[in-house]
Amino acid sequence: MKPIHHALSAGLALVLTAVPVLAQDAEIDNLTAAYEEGGKYFTEDDVPTYNVAEDGTVDWYTFSGFRRYHAECHVCHGPDGEGSSYAPALKDSAVDMDYYDFVYVAVEGRKVVDAADNQVMPAFGLNKNVMCYLDDIYIYLKARGADAIPRGRPAKKAAKSEQFVEDENACMG
Ligand code: HEC
Repeated sequence: MKPIHHALSAGLALVLTAVPVLAQDAEIDNLTAAYEEGGKYFTEDDVPTYNVAEDGTVDWYTFSGFRRYHAECHVCHGPDGEGSSYAPALKDSAVDMDYYDFVYVAVEGRKVVDAADNQVMPAFGLNKNVMCYLDDIYIYLKARGADAIPRGRPAKKAAKSEQFVEDENACMG
């Protein structure tokens, strides 16, 4: 449902556009939080995103994503989403890639085999420690890519919401 809704609204915006460049810039604002639900922030296109308060306090999902990223992804993708000689800088991917494409690669993995490269992005679709926190990881990386937070462990974080605990329990079973 969501990818279709997403593609539809993007297509609609192009059709309705009077001043293409301006309207398109507004449409592709993939970063700014438009609303919050249970401590989780979303863009106006219902895509998860970060929120950083003026005093630097990050939302819980950004903090959770920092931890999960450094448990599951940093070995290949480098600390703080900076990338490595083996795998791309995910802080940039999270900003540049469509959310649904990002999720797709994490679920299905990706293998590039040619004369020069033999790189494998593993499929995490069956790994609950990744799947239950994939939005968190995406949100954290987007905050990094947008330079909304510095490298390292976020110093101040919002409290864990009841919604988060509920979703976590339901997902981890
Ligand atoms: C075993 C090493 C390894 C681990 C662990 C790993 N990745 Fe990857 N990942 C890769 C490689 C290599 C690529 C590049 C594949 C290619 O060439 O297209 C990649 C690519 C990606 C891409 C596509 C990026 C782009 O810009 O095209 C995403 C998204 C991604 N990984 C997410 C994750 C997430 C999220 C995690 C942690 C849950 C993770 N990866 C853990 C090796 C890894």
